[in-house]
Amino acid sequence: MDFLLPLAAALTALILLLLYQRWCNLRSSQLAESITGTSPVIEKDPYDAIEPPSPGFDWATTSQIKLRTFRPKYHLTMSLENVTMSDFLEMDESYLDRLALRREIMDDNPEATRQCNEVAKPAVLELYDWIVSAYLPRRYPMVYKPTMTANGRRLHNIATGKDIPTTSTSPISALYTLGENIDTDFLILLPSSTAVDGSPIYHLEAFVTCFPSGFSTKEKCGMPLATIHAPVPGYAAKLERSMDRFFAKLEVGKIVKRANWSISTDGVLFCEGGNHMYGDEDKSKPPNAATLQEEIERQKLDVVVEKCWLRCERQTLHRLPQTKALVFAFKTYMYKLSEIKEEGLGPDLADAIDGLGLGNVPEMKVYKRGVVWGEKIQEYLRSP
Ligand code: HEM
Ligand SMILES: *[C@@H]1O[C@H](CO)[C@@H](O)[C@H](O)[C@H]1NC(C)=O
Ligand SMILES: *[C@@H]1O[C@H](CO)[C@@H](O)[C@H](O)[C@H]1NC(C)=O
Repeated sequence: MDFLLPLAAALTALILLLLYQRWCNLRSSQLAESITGTSPVIEKDPYDAIEPPSPGFDWATTSQIKLRTFRPKYHLTMSLENVTMSDFLEMDESYLDRLALRREIMDDNPEATRQCNEVAKPAVLELYDWIVSAYLPRRYPMVYKPTMTANGRRLHNIATGKDIPTTSTSPISALYTLGENIDTDFLILLPSSTAVDGSPIYHLEAFVTCFPSGFSTKEKCGMPLATIHAPVPGYAAKLERSMDRFFAKLEVGKIVKRANWSISTDGVLFCEGGNHMYGDEDKSKPPNAATLQEEIERQKLDVVVEKCWLRCERQTLHRLPQTKALVFAFKTYMYKLSEIKEEGLGPDLADAIDGLGLGNVPEMKVYKRGVVWGEKIQEYLRSP
């Protein structure tokens, strides 16, 4: 038996030696890589690490992504997912039609579609600079091509045939340029006030939004998140604290996404009111029960299933590295109800409409006007 002890000692020595060698190798390779700048260990700046989509990507033949986030029970939660910076903006076949619509809406509604409070000017210019000189040409090189013109460096939009200035000094024109070249709405938030415990409170301070779904972004500009969400039932009780904490802590280089859904009874993308039973334009109190019921019955008569759409937003949130502002960005999707039915998801969406009233905030069904459009749409979705 006494041969076991020296054997164990020898084995231990061998293992230690091997571990030491590995450690040395790792260190020297890290050192070499950090010098040549190719280290997989020392991470690349995520704001530079923008990858193009898979080879052969052509926006013109790419159908819009299918957001199907409706669930049997609606739970008011953040439901965020980590993604990469490359996933910031989506592109699909609706691109040129959407840009034309965006330009029309922005030209008809200059005040409603873009604003920039003094405090947010550096953040808007930072966002513009990063999108135009880094994000777009790296993510979608088949659409946005850097060129040199008589007027200096430009980003050429191959799809529209127009040039985009690579730097901007005017935040409002920067917002316009983003709005007319990208089918995504952008909102900038800054920690403009402080809670009693010293934590930052984020306020909306600048935006370019062509597709608000039932509220006026302009009227919300300058407000803290909690006031923005005041009409949303359950927000204060179920979401406010976790959202404030999340906004305060989100690190530079991280980006998250979420999606939501509702039904649009007219398919109109630029919608400053009428999508909710109450709360639009900050009249946050629901009406009394009798008038509410009358109003519901009256509005039901106007619902025409063929004119209804499933309306979804794909939203992202990330922090700019210099100004530390938060960028809330969303792309809006409209799906024909027949599309949902063809996918075999008709019964699921119908259940989800019931589910609006079955989750942690049952008032959501009234708020989202489910009590108005629900029945007719469910009948259609459940029919063979
Ligand atoms: C400046 C940024 C934001 C603005 C202006 C804004 C505005 C609004 C408004 C007006 C509503 C009520 C309209 C409706 O429900 O259709 C709403 C609902 C809601 N918001 Fe926001 N929001 C912002 C950011 C966020 C972020 C970052 C999150 C989550 C991480 C979020 C989560 C929600 C949720 C869960 C609802 C309830 C309705 C739903 O989406 O299902 N919001 N928001
Ligand atoms: C997302 O990233 C954060 C921060 O790095 C991490 O704490 C969190 O667990 C991640 N969430 C998921 C769902 O992976
Ligand atoms: C989705 O969430 C956004 C932002 O929180 C809100 O403004 C919008 O009205 C919601 N849209 C739908 C379709 O529910």
